[in-house]
Amino acid sequence: RSRYTGIIERYRDRLPVHDDARVIALGEGNTPLIRLNNIPRTLGRDVDIYVKFEGLNPTGSFKDRGMTMAVTRAVEEGARAIICASTGNTSASAAAYAARAGIRAFVLIPDGKIAQGKLAQAMMHGATVLQIKGNFDDGMRLVKEMAQAAPVTIVNSVNPYRLQGQKTAAFEIVEELGRAPDYHCLPVGNAGNITAHWIGYCEYSSASGDHVTEACSFCKGHCMYAGGAVVGNRPKMLGYQASGSAPFMRGHMVDNPETVATAIRIGHPQSWDYAWKVKEESGGWFDECSDEEILAAQKLLAEREGVFCEPASAASLAGALRDVKNGRIPEGSSIVCTLTGQGLKDPETAIRQGSRPPLTVEADLDAVKRAILDQLD
Ligand code: F0G
Repeated sequence: RSRYTGIIERYRDRLPVHDDARVIALGEGNTPLIRLNNIPRTLGRDVDIYVKFEGLNPTGSFKDRGMTMAVTRAVEEGARAIICASTGNTSASAAAYAARAGIRAFVLIPDGKIAQGKLAQAMMHGATVLQIKGNFDDGMRLVKEMAQAAPVTIVNSVNPYRLQGQKTAAFEIVEELGRAPDYHCLPVGNAGNITAHWIGYCEYSSASGDHVTEACSFCKGHCMYAGGAVVGNRPKMLGYQASGSAPFMRGHMVDNPETVATAIRIGHPQSWDYAWKVKEESGGWFDECSDEEILAAQKLLAEREGVFCEPASAASLAGALRDVKNGRIPEGSSIVCTLTGQGLKDPETAIRQGSRPPLTVEADLDAVKRAILDQLD
């Protein structure tokens, strides 16, 4: 048995990587699928809820699955620099994989609107950080223009290798559960990840020999099963947006997106058409969560299950819990919620929630004893 080194080695036969490629990897993927024990009991409904904790990837988000592919291919094609616009996680991941590859990273982030941990990562890995006086959507436009004007490879999810890497999360889920879940819930920003998961589920069910009924409209020939996707064992895909940044709910682009979940503060999703197809093909839906619901779900998960994700990630659970309670997700269902990023990314928002602020006490036994016995009553 060989050492686990990352998704490219693990799923090499299903990824567009050449045999002799120099693989740029940091051990991404292979993240835990945790069955929730305490929260479902409080719902009074018979459902199985799992969280796929993508926050345990090397840079703390699902982006690493896509970045190992994008950077491996960029290096192979001779790139000496990569570029991205980011709400934080893509920039952290790009910076780390560029460092690993020995190439430059340029990252455009919205001034003052990314979580501290993500900024720290981009800086520590030696990326050139450009804080633009605009939002993610402005950054995305500029990055596309820059890629025309200079020898820099875009590693946002418009780079098709990103989605190819990210599809492997679906493979891992099917392998662990022995089948696809009935529902798969994700937070949606650019809608790259929900698209990538759908590609993964489609490929997996076609690889298991089911009957091909429709052309694979996503992979543009990159996937191994480019001939077609199948209707087989695939989940309904549920995409949840923050209310202030919910173009899929509004039915059109949103110009000034706002939300406490800065990772998904996006008004012009790059995978707009793909995401609508995913919804149609899977029989799923989009919905929105308020900032309050998102933060409540983040705290509930941390307090009741011991799992600390970042705010944006909690949109998947917030939406799932609401749809279980209102019966839109029926009893007996198995549900996977992707927790896209690690809670430590955004300590400021967590501390601001302040459910149990630290108690300051004198450094003597009496004071400590009093404080503790108070709590045990
Ligand atoms: N959750 C987190 C933690 C994210 O960082 C992102 C996207 C999403 C969800 C949404 O995923 O865009 O594929 O629908 N973050 C990007 C970034 C935009 O720059 O880090 P999506």
